[in-house]
Amino acid sequence: MMQISLGPYVITEADRDSIWEVVRINEETLPEHYTLQFYYDIYENFPEGFLIARLDGKAVGYIMNRIERGISSFGLNFVKKGHVVSIAVLEEHRKKGIGTVLLNTAMERMKKRGCDEVFLEVRVTNDEAIKLYEKLGFVKVRTIQYYYSDGEDAYVMARRL
Ligand code: ACO
Ligand code: ZN
Repeated sequence: MMQISLGPYVITEADRDSIWEVVRINEETLPEHYTLQFYYDIYENFPEGFLIARLDGKAVGYIMNRIERGISSFGLNFVKKGHVVSIAVLEEHRKKGIGTVLLNTAMERMKKRGCDEVFLEVRVTNDEAIKLYEKLGFVKVRTIQYYYSDGEDAYVMARRL
């Protein structure tokens, strides 16, 4: 089991028994919620990319991703891509580098699984997240109108791995 230390925080792969902790963080931090089965499906698809950050054993952040095949965000070729389905850090633990480590580690894992690129959707007003993605080399590739259930648009952001 991989273990990355970031000051007092420890980042590891999630296991099936810790998925409820991810659900709890998601419900506290994001308006997009999922069924428990959805989390398990993501976990089965790419377990080594499902990561949790902890402080003294308590989960404070996560990233979950899926491996997909489809048309490249950068051209017309068919590629294997990592899809960042959701990333979140509890508010009181933000701006300490946790999101950066979660995303960088997930991208390394995607590359090991043979992904050529990585993409995600983000609310067009989510400046903090967009800034993090741009810092890590993502660019906005298109806008999806009314992507979210409240009508907000999404940017699709992507980078090559
Ligand atoms: N000291 C001070 N600042 C730091 C440090 C540090 N040691 N380390 C990093 N930072 C800064 C970064 O430079 C960055 O600042 P900047 O944007 O002003 O350049 C900022 O902190 C954020 O970087 P991280 O700390 O690595 O990221 P964080 O752990 O805060 O997580 C996240 C970012 C996940 C977007 C968080 O804001 C969050 O949970 N938001 C709510 C949920 C959300 O919107 N998730 C994304 C939805 S889109 C999707 O899931 C695909
Ligand atoms: Zn998505």
